[in-house]
Amino acid sequence: MSLESFFNPASVAIVGASRRPGKVGREILVNIVRGGYPGKIFPINPGVDSIDGLKCYPDLTSIGEVPELVLIIVPAETVADVMRQCARIGSKSVVIITAGFKEVGAAGSQLEQEVLRIAHGAGIRVIGPNCLGIIDTVHKLNASFAGDLPGTGAIGYVSQSGALLAAILDMANAVGIGFSTLVSIGNKADMDELDIMQYLADCPETKVIAGYLENISDGNQFVREAEIISHAKPVLLMKSGATGAGARAASSHTGSLAGSETAYECVFERAGIIRCNSIKTQFDFAQAFATQPLPEGDSVVVITNAGGPGIMAADAIESQGLTFAKLSEETVQKLAAKLPAAANVNNPVDVLGDALAERYELALEIVMADKNVSAILVLLTPQAMTEVAATAEAIVKEAKNHNKPVFACFLGAEKVEPGLKVLRRGQIPQYDSPESAVAAIKAMSDYHRWRHRPKRVVKLYPVNRRKVENIVERHLRLGIREIGEVESKEIIEAYGFVTPKGSIATTAEQAANIARQLGFPVVLKIWSPDIIHKSDVGGVRVGLKSAQEVMDAFDLMMFRVPKKMPEADILGVLVQEMCTEGKEVILGMHRDPHFGPMMMFGMGGIMVEVLKDVAFYLAPLTAVEAKQMLVNTRTYKMLTGVRGQAGVDIDAIAEALQRLSQLVTEFPQILEMDINPFMVGPEGTTPIAVDARISVEKVGQTK
Ligand code: COA
Repeated sequence: MSLESFFNPASVAIVGASRRPGKVGREILVNIVRGGYPGKIFPINPGVDSIDGLKCYPDLTSIGEVPELVLIIVPAETVADVMRQCARIGSKSVVIITAGFKEVGAAGSQLEQEVLRIAHGAGIRVIGPNCLGIIDTVHKLNASFAGDLPGTGAIGYVSQSGALLAAILDMANAVGIGFSTLVSIGNKADMDELDIMQYLADCPETKVIAGYLENISDGNQFVREAEIISHAKPVLLMKSGATGAGARAASSHTGSLAGSETAYECVFERAGIIRCNSIKTQFDFAQAFATQPLPEGDSVVVITNAGGPGIMAADAIESQGLTFAKLSEETVQKLAAKLPAAANVNNPVDVLGDALAERYELALEIVMADKNVSAILVLLTPQAMTEVAATAEAIVKEAKNHNKPVFACFLGAEKVEPGLKVLRRGQIPQYDSPESAVAAIKAMSDYHRWRHRPKRVVKLYPVNRRKVENIVERHLRLGIREIGEVESKEIIEAYGFVTPKGSIATTAEQAANIARQLGFPVVLKIWSPDIIHKSDVGGVRVGLKSAQEVMDAFDLMMFRVPKKMPEADILGVLVQEMCTEGKEVILGMHRDPHFGPMMMFGMGGIMVEVLKDVAFYLAPLTAVEAKQMLVNTRTYKMLTGVRGQAGVDIDAIAEALQRLSQLVTEFPQILEMDINPFMVGPEGTTPIAVDARISVEKVGQTK
């Protein structure tokens, strides 16, 4: 069903319209009338004949025609009855403003379900309950109590908080930001963020989708659909609140490192959604996306009439990962010919403190034509002779004549205000600091790159799926969640991992013989299905260099461990080759109950324990994404080799991550897993999965 009936209805009924000032039903009626809504308005109130000259009806059935949109603003306990009336007359689009539903507890929740049942039975779509209403500036519909109808603009906004929407409107009005549509989704009983985002993606007046969310209703669907929406239009989201489900107790290393927001970050990254940490940042970015073409590269030129701000901008460009444009020889020569001798004709182009509007315009025209420039940032400080408004006019004119994004930062307050007005009118985004302007350019440049990224191709490796199936199913049948070391390794071996050689010994002599065959040094590990955390009970000894050391360690382990864990069934001791070559990294997976498997890569040892230097990404992984996970760690350089130390085989780690991603995608029963440490040597060597831990759960159990 198209949502057109919500945003461009031919008629609106307001159930609960009131004559009494201050009442929600009064404010919404006034807003609809004052906003200039051109369709028919039907106030509904059994106790009143007319309101402000509009005929009032006792109920929906007495109107005599079907209102295309119905707003419900009556006490919660009567909402179901009104919904029944909607069903009877055949209205299909309803906004419930009323609060007192799911958000107040079990009784409210029941009421909400009842209302929803009636709506679904009649094919009615619902926004709310517990919402502030909806606004469509193009069709002059202000069906909300958020305030006056805002100016038209290219931003479509969806908010899970009604109150925040009112604040956003107020702030936007103050700085002249306009909207196409605003939707308060309230409790999301029926329609949720994705429904509205999909509508906005198709809405011709909307160029940018922005929103505020506290949670996402359907994680799997969101992952699938949000990427398509983002591809159509940039999506800027503020997200607050933790996912209670994502924050469940974790038994693996990976699980404990995955913060409650990690899944959202992964999903947003996969979907190309631009996350904003504040309303200001969201406005900053939205202005840029709404008014400027996307920069086709990441090189930025700065034009300024003051040295200091120029340097600040240059620093921001570098620190935020953009490129400080190197102007072509031709551009430099043209600038030198037109600007005073003291001007800086390289980036940042300094037109000098006495620059009038004409000098700015000349510089702008010349740099706009340079192929090395993808975006232009114009800085201005109001000096005695500065023509603030005329300079703004020149910027607007030059931006119109070229298809490159232009951003302005007029530093100051009162003196620059006339310029800001011109910029606003001329659709040039303007910022209160060079840093925030650069952040907006960066967001646009990243989005452009994301949109032009190569198609995602997930490689499938030949694996022994049957073997894993057998192990996993047996554990689930027996109700065992944690798979022991041997079988965890069998699972990863079935997916192409190499694990250390070793055998089980039941006597000290046997242990020494196995060690001799493996070669020293070796590792001893207590062998028991009942002991998961072996080192905690003294069940691990590493670096044993001789047969004698092995025998002594064996005897000590067999003496001590049973004392610490008398109930454990001890089957012997695993004698294992010791991997000393290469660097330790950790690979893992944590399954988020809403969004699915999140892969983890981290530097091993102290890096993961202390620095928590890890990167997450949503499975299934492509080769590019797997490699990007490594690059995203702070200590990535250590893997490529620093200070004379040889680097390790990056591609081998990326392949391991892809194999692991295939495993956890093919086995949704795997809840969490770690391969820690994963020892990786120089290019061409085979990495070894030294230890693995896997926990499983019946599918659907966590939902
Ligand atoms: N059909 C038509 N009109 C009805 C009606 C019905 N079934 N039931 C009541 N009305 C009329 C009332 O007579 C009253 O009109 P009046 O002012 O002329 O007497 C009007 O509707 C409102 O009913 P009232 O009982 O006075 O309720 P209220 O205005 O105090 O509160 C709500 C109604 C919906 C505003 C209130 O229950 C509510 O939910 N408030 C919170 C809203 C909110 O915060 N939403 C979330 C924002 S983020």
